[in-house]
Amino acid sequence: MAREIAMPKIVLSLLLGTLIAMPTSVESMGVCYGMLGDNLPEPSDVISLYQSNRIDAMRLYNPNSDTLNALKGTNISLMVGVPNEELATFASNASAAAFWVQNNILAYEGVSFKYIAVGNELMGENASNILPAMHNIHNAITSAGLQDQIKVSTSVRFDVLSETSPPSNAIFSSSHMGPVVQFLANTSGPLLVNIYPYFSYAYSNGAIPLDFALFTAPDAVVYDNEYQYKNLFDAMVDSVYYAMEKVGYSNVSIVVSESGWPSYGGVGTTMENAQIYNQNLINHSAYGTPKRPGNLETYIFAMFMENMKTGDEVERNFGLFYPDQSPVYTVNFNYT
Ligand SMILES: *[C@@H]1O[C@H](CO)[C@@H](O)[C@H](O)[C@H]1NC(C)=O
Ligand SMILES: *[C@@H]1O[C@H](CO)[C@@H](O)[C@H](O)[C@H]1NC(C)=O
Ligand SMILES: *[C@@H]1O[C@H](CO)[C@@H](O)[C@H](O)[C@H]1NC(C)=O
Ligand SMILES: *[C@@H]1O[C@H](CO)[C@@H](O)[C@H](O)[C@H]1NC(C)=O
Ligand SMILES: *[C@@H]1O[C@H](CO)[C@@H](O)[C@H](O)[C@H]1NC(C)=O
Ligand SMILES: *[C@@H]1O[C@H](CO)[C@@H](O)[C@H](O)[C@H]1NC(C)=O
Repeated sequence: MAREIAMPKIVLSLLLGTLIAMPTSVESMGVCYGMLGDNLPEPSDVISLYQSNRIDAMRLYNPNSDTLNALKGTNISLMVGVPNEELATFASNASAAAFWVQNNILAYEGVSFKYIAVGNELMGENASNILPAMHNIHNAITSAGLQDQIKVSTSVRFDVLSETSPPSNAIFSSSHMGPVVQFLANTSGPLLVNIYPYFSYAYSNGAIPLDFALFTAPDAVVYDNEYQYKNLFDAMVDSVYYAMEKVGYSNVSIVVSESGWPSYGGVGTTMENAQIYNQNLINHSAYGTPKRPGNLETYIFAMFMENMKTGDEVERNFGLFYPDQSPVYTVNFNYT
């Protein structure tokens, strides 16, 4: 009797395990095409560079028309940004949001739009514009019948969280996040999160071991209830999952909208470390995290060295390629 009851349970859990572990798509790796350089190649050359390296997804921070035209018919899937400066307008004016969707999305037939990132790392007083702007953009996408293909979300920094050690302690530090996550649950969209183990490592003053940040630790470093963490990236991603659960939603997924490692300009910034991190990140995207095994769509920051980026030296040194299109170091996107 006990055995008869136990059997289906085992079968069920095996089946669930299989379903959860099955990648939703093999094409889970993209690269951010940042344009803050005065020496970068033409968009059409950049697209060719994506194709020759078999990079099949792109994040674009602005709906740059030359790039959108060059993307037509390529089947490179696209995350496109609504710049932070425009959110106040789109939050208050639904017609302006619809106008933006018309001019930057609907006008580019043949571009494989996948996500619209309404704002990037927007914090502080203006964060209250994110949700109403997402609503208005989403309504325009729905009017066009594209709500199943194009998901409207926003890209947040990891420090929308506090208390992230261990991951199960994590909570959102700002009250604007709960309604954003509810919107994503309502619309089946993912939360876009920029995840940088590099900065956590660099600011930790030696407290975070380098191999834990580079995916090369031989053993678990963090133990958190039923989960063990061998790399910091997973601990960071799962922190966001825990925080989303605490505002009531365990069915919203995460897309890592930026991650990367600079090859110059700061602590731990060797070419070798950057190569190891990014190659491991590519491999890792097929496996997911302890809490959410399976495919984890991830975008590497960034395609190019960007000489016009402001801030610390490392900011200009995240690129996989130099402006002359030669690789800074080798990474292989054809990992399957
Ligand atoms: C386009 O890409 C999608 C996945 O992003 C893939 O399923 C599909 O087969 C591709 N189509 C062509 C024509 O390459
Ligand atoms: C809202 O946006 C539309 C389209 O850009 C514009 O014509 C209209 O003047 C705006 N309304 C307000 C109140 O700003
Ligand atoms: C908030 O948005 C307004 C209007 O876009 C802008 O002038 C202001 O500088 C922003 N505030 C912050 C803190 O970014
Ligand atoms: C989500 O959907 C519920 C039920 O339709 C609705 O009450 C709520 O306002 C929606 N939340 C957001 C943030 O859109
Ligand atoms: C996600 O969960 C919330 C709360 O349980 C529910 O209202 C919503 O319909 C769910 N969304 C999906 C896409 O399953
Ligand atoms: C890819 O990641 C998996 C899971 O973390 C690991 O078992 C495997 O050894 C990795 N492969 C390579 C080539 O690094």
